[in-house]
Amino acid sequence: MWAAITGVHGYVPPDVLTNAELSRMVDTSDAWIVERTGIKERHILKGKGLGTSHMGAEAVRGLLKKTGTAPGDVDLLICATTTPDFVFPSTANLICDMVDIRNIGSFDVQAACSGFVYALTIAARFIESGGYRKIIVVGADKMSAIIDYTDRATCVLFGDGAGAVLIEPSRKYGIIDTLISSDGAGMKHLHQKAGGSRMPPTPETVAKRLHYVHQEGAAVYKFAIARMADVATELMRRNHLAKDTIDWLVPHQANRRIIEATAERIGLPPERVMVTIQKYGNTTSGTIPLCLWDYEKKLKTGDRLLLAAFGGGFTWGGIYMTWAYDGRSRSEGKTEEGQRRKDAGKAFAQLAAALKVPVALLAPWPASLLR
Ligand code: ACO
Repeated sequence: MWAAITGVHGYVPPDVLTNAELSRMVDTSDAWIVERTGIKERHILKGKGLGTSHMGAEAVRGLLKKTGTAPGDVDLLICATTTPDFVFPSTANLICDMVDIRNIGSFDVQAACSGFVYALTIAARFIESGGYRKIIVVGADKMSAIIDYTDRATCVLFGDGAGAVLIEPSRKYGIIDTLISSDGAGMKHLHQKAGGSRMPPTPETVAKRLHYVHQEGAAVYKFAIARMADVATELMRRNHLAKDTIDWLVPHQANRRIIEATAERIGLPPERVMVTIQKYGNTTSGTIPLCLWDYEKKLKTGDRLLLAAFGGGFTWGGIYMTWAYDGRSRSEGKTEEGQRRKDAGKAFAQLAAALKVPVALLAPWPASLLR
């Protein structure tokens, strides 16, 4: 039994922050940002009281709708995020409440930019255990909440966004292999100094701007390429995959140059690499599900996908999976689950009419879902 992605949806907030606007805020230029990172614009969540959970909930709402899933059918919800709304409760908890998913397990996973790969790995184990049939994994981050918009070295890189996937058991397709890893010695190169239990917030930490992302870009850059290529190569070796047998590389989107270098090291041409960094920037846990959402139309049943991510910690990870559905029909709303229910619904309705009983007496799910 494999854990297969059977639906994906994404959300980016409507406000766009362009390179031209950033050039007016710090000493940078559109030419520098595009040449060094590939980013042209990013979306920013604006509005009082709005946090990561609001974007995650939007993605989950769309996912439930397009896969024809009732909130009550979801067994578990995991949210990967580095920018939770609160220290507690978890963002997963908040999302469940917002979309009316109740009385199930929900928790956050924090592994910086590798968070979604970590969360998907955990979800796969739950499905493989046989006890869970519908799990939602969300990757969501409001990076604008922890970015210093006076620091040109980081503020051009990040954006806000969320993606969500539905995971269900499958005998034919799904997650075949996973690999997660970390090295805490990387902390010095990429971290947020204050706000946690070591350095709780004080007027001084705020004045010294210690609640923002600190990154030594060049050091992180080298590790990111090496680890993302390593993880992809290792998954290929373990699963006897030649470069020609991989349909899509789905890399974390931190920098176009990192994506290109990773693809080059494993020998994949650009047309088989998902890239969304130009329009979303680095949305941390959101990048991989947003890629899957953007490219859903192009994905075909049986496509082989290699996911690879690297982030703060350092953390890194990868997943080899086969895609479980025809993305074009799903992205147009004709979901397999929805269609199955529609077909079954028609049959139940005919049977109920013949027996002159309410359809709810016969259908194994609420009659409202048959409409
Ligand atoms: N505009 C103009 N100049 C800039 C800017 C900017 N926005 N930012 C930095 N520079 C300058 C620097 O000050 C430096 O100038 P100097 O030589 O006079 O000192 C010069 O550009 C080169 O700086 P580098 O840091 O060496 O630039 P680099 O080519 O490495 O690009 C970047 C910087 C884009 C940050 C790159 O290093 C990178 O992508 N790093 C990895 C990011 C990553 O993968 N993060 C992991 C995930 S994030 C997470 O987990 C939360």
